[in-house]
Amino acid sequence: MRCLVTGVAGFIGSHLAEALVAEGHEVVGLDSFSDSYPREIKESNLSGLRNEAAFEFVEGDVARIVLGGLLRGVDWVFHQAAQAGVRASWGKLFQTYADNNVMGTQRLLEAVRETDTGKKVRRILYASSSSIYGDAEETQTPEEITPRPISPYGVTKLAGEQLAYLYWKQMGLPVVSLRYFTVYGPRQRPDMAFHRFIEALLSDAPIEIYGDGEQTRDFTYVSDAVAANLAAAVRGRDGTVYNIGGGERASINRVVRLLEEVSGRRARTQYLHPQAGDVRHTWGDISRAGRELGFCPRVGLTDGLRRQCEWHLRRRSDGNQQRASGNPGVSKMQGGSSSG
Ligand code: UGA
Repeated sequence: MRCLVTGVAGFIGSHLAEALVAEGHEVVGLDSFSDSYPREIKESNLSGLRNEAAFEFVEGDVARIVLGGLLRGVDWVFHQAAQAGVRASWGKLFQTYADNNVMGTQRLLEAVRETDTGKKVRRILYASSSSIYGDAEETQTPEEITPRPISPYGVTKLAGEQLAYLYWKQMGLPVVSLRYFTVYGPRQRPDMAFHRFIEALLSDAPIEIYGDGEQTRDFTYVSDAVAANLAAAVRGRDGTVYNIGGGERASINRVVRLLEEVSGRRARTQYLHPQAGDVRHTWGDISRAGRELGFCPRVGLTDGLRRQCEWHLRRRSDGNQQRASGNPGVSKMQGGSSSG
């Protein structure tokens, strides 16, 4: 299949494009290198793909560029591009969230609708988020529950999801939405919890915990999120949303203990104020994805944390080697963090 992956230089987009190429698909990857975090990090996410003959990279912003040409001959569209991150979505930055997550999604859907290439796009996968649920009361949240986001970010992801739904309902576009639950693993964004915790642990700095640390997340390993995309491209039911969770809910305090175990280091913790927009608990009911997509998360939390720790260690040692050889390379990336 010929695939378009938006946000290809990001955390999930880059893993997804690699998996598609490995499975023999052709990938056009689009990314704007927005300043949500340093460009060098996103460039390094792409480094494995750049040499692949089946991969073509286009720099551009889905909310601005002409998309028609990129869609020519495309079978599957994976819309991963977004301004991500819950806690930074208040205030002035909301404009960026609205532009990327609402306008970007609307433009892409409209472009698919308008592109008459004689060969129709077979599936559009929209990357949605568990943040659309807000503080859901159910223990394992089913997809049918009324969404009540409690962050501006969650509102924009829900708006994108609703746009995707109505382009299916009204225009017949073959759209499927996947609600990811806090994805982690190698290349995780620098603003996200595990990335920050592991870097703190390896630097012997305090791990900053928002609130009492008893909030829980249904943490999902990145290869499971990628597998869900591939399955949904083939078997997804158009107009449907699927929860994609890791199936193993854990509190932030438990994660810190697990990180101590897998790293063999002692963590220092610092408890800070809870952050506006953070939900207390997430836990997805993934039975629909299991039934219809054959989705079954394969990587448990301890194993996943070990793999992410190993990635941080490798990245640091590569950075040290490059510094020693006079090439700044990834070392320049250290310390840069932001949302998105
Ligand atoms: C994550 C992603 O950042 C969102 O883009 C995504 O849409 C969402 O998952 C999702 O489920 O779809 P979040 O659950 O906030 O959002 O993920 P983390 O940033 O990894 O935070 C997890 C928990 O750790 C939160 O309770 C947060 O308050 C806490 N945290 C985070 C800390 O205690 N300290 C930190 O330094 C960072």
